[in-house]
Amino acid sequence: MTKRQTRLFFLGSTLFFALIFIGLTIDSHRQISALTHSDQMTADVIAGKRVWHEKNCTNCHTLLGEGAYYAPDLTKIAEQRGAAYLSQFLKNPAAFYSEAKDRRLMPNLNLGDEQIRHLIAFLSWVSRIDTNGWPPRPLLVSGAFPGSSPAHAQQAAASSDPVALGEALFRKSPPACAACHSTAEGVQLVGPSLAGIAARAQQRLGDPEYRGHAKTAEEYVRESIVAPSMFLVAGPTFSAGGRSFMPDNFGHSLQASEIDHLVAYLMTLK
Ligand code: HEC
Ligand code: HEC
Repeated sequence: MTKRQTRLFFLGSTLFFALIFIGLTIDSHRQISALTHSDQMTADVIAGKRVWHEKNCTNCHTLLGEGAYYAPDLTKIAEQRGAAYLSQFLKNPAAFYSEAKDRRLMPNLNLGDEQIRHLIAFLSWVSRIDTNGWPPRPLLVSGAFPGSSPAHAQQAAASSDPVALGEALFRKSPPACAACHSTAEGVQLVGPSLAGIAARAQQRLGDPEYRGHAKTAEEYVRESIVAPSMFLVAGPTFSAGGRSFMPDNFGHSLQASEIDHLVAYLMTLK
């Protein structure tokens, strides 16, 4: 190449890639309001973002990967924990984790009920942002979250076996069942282990504390998913004031067939 050709090559390719870059930037900006559901940015969401900054949550946590790396990323926390749990946790984090065991502890930030409500609105809004599947694995404080590998999920989607579909859904986020439940014996996360739930469901029906309408183990498991507070498993971090920390909206957010699949899967855990 002559000197002139080299210069032209440099200028031409720089211009070419600059145009691509500008095009992609414009395209991203065009999509931001749809990807972030900016129409759902209510006054509570905005107030929550203000509390987030006032209390310097970002000195320890990340949102969308930005912030400090001392404590877990909270991008999807509202999806994985639900409002009932978060409102109690934010009131008194030390009731849920211990410095001795977890080696670090979130300080009590003396948040008022109103501030907590706003923070939850903000975190719920953040959790609905379409991040193209990021973070790939939830970064939770307690327990493993195996997640479903793309191959695993694909395999399940290809099969029509309700148990396989149910297991894949159990490990997906949302509904994030596995963020709170292990299926290994004795492993307690935010919720109790579901090992042996099919057999335990039968015993729950005869429990004097049981307030639901199920007649069979399978009906109990189904009811536990759509109306979790009908029976409260005993445990200091499972419920408060008669209300389960398990999100109570799965009856709306999941399709009837998805609930059937989850029940089919859980009934195999004998
Ligand atoms: C000084 C550091 C620090 C600050 C500031 C902080 N956190 Fe945390 N947070 C932690 C740690 C550490 C954990 C892990 C759990 C534990 O050990 O208490 C955590 C956990 C959490 C969890 C997850 C609980 C779970 O069980 O999954 C939420 C939600 C949370 N913090 C919200 C907030 C919000 C909202 C703020 C600001 C109002 C905030 N944090 C400020 C350190 C902090
Ligand atoms: C935020 C954490 C959380 C999430 C997410 C969650 N659960 Fe739960 N779950 C709990 C807690 C806490 C309990 C115990 C309190 C109670 O009895 O409701 C529970 C109880 C249960 C029970 C009854 C267990 C028993 O021994 O009687 C079943 C079944 C269950 N969950 C299934 C599911 C399924 C399926 C999903 C996903 C669709 C799910 N859970 C999502 C926290 C969670």
